[in-house]
Amino acid sequence: MVSFTLPKDSRVQPGKVWPKPQGARNLKEFRIYRFDPESGANPRLDTYYVDLDACGPMVLGALMWIKDTIDSTLTFRRSCREGICGSCSMNINGENALACISAIADYEGPITIHPLPHMQVVKDLVPDLTLFYAQHRLIEPWLKTDTPAPEREWRQSKEDRAKLDGLYECILCACCSTSCPSYWWNQDRFLGPAALLQAWRWIADSRDEATGERLDQLDDPFRLYRCHTIMNCVRACPKGLNPARAIARIKRTLTHRKA
Ligand code: SF4
Ligand code: SF4
Ligand code: FES
Repeated sequence: MVSFTLPKDSRVQPGKVWPKPQGARNLKEFRIYRFDPESGANPRLDTYYVDLDACGPMVLGALMWIKDTIDSTLTFRRSCREGICGSCSMNINGENALACISAIADYEGPITIHPLPHMQVVKDLVPDLTLFYAQHRLIEPWLKTDTPAPEREWRQSKEDRAKLDGLYECILCACCSTSCPSYWWNQDRFLGPAALLQAWRWIADSRDEATGERLDQLDDPFRLYRCHTIMNCVRACPKGLNPARAIARIKRTLTHRKA
């Protein structure tokens, strides 16, 4: 039997229990992962009691209330507050989600929040997405053409434009890639569902003239074929996209090219 030993500093310790706000009658318990790599201390789970009558209805609202009224050192990313920017992705009660569109009322009992899984942590709920963005850069997410640019715009039929539905909506939140076991174990070589969905978005674009080159880039046992159709990515996507189907389409296109 294989046994694994976790690094000592990866063990999450019980954290501080912050006092309940005075006079609040509608309290919700939040257990939140805290980690500051520069402190040399192990990560811990701090407990906060949030006054639901004083904060917004979403998990992000509770985090902002904690930061504003209890503990200003709590660190997380957020921007748009409407599920568009992809900044507030985190693991809420065991599932990757966007905090700004996750309603507190949908969770019974205490809510436990961790950063996205299997990523280095910059601080608290902020994962290091450097590699994730580099993988997106690697698939060259822009229109590549040899034909001289038209005077006004690259035209596309309605039918061809419709082929990009379910692809262009990706907000690069990383919920899918960080829920994928293949990505956990091989993220240095497997591109992961988010980058591969984007790769297919450009292969499927009728205006793009670099399909062969794009397919050559992906035809690799690790970059593409580490996907074993486990489907976690589909469950995890907060925008309802289907990276596994996009990956299957890349594989099928490569198979037909070889035939
Ligand atoms: S379908 Fe592929 S990319 Fe999606 S979770 Fe499974 S292995 Fe990962
Ligand atoms: S496919 Fe979905 S889960 Fe993955 S990065 Fe895009 S929006 Fe996020
Ligand atoms: S804050 Fe932009 S997606 Fe949540």
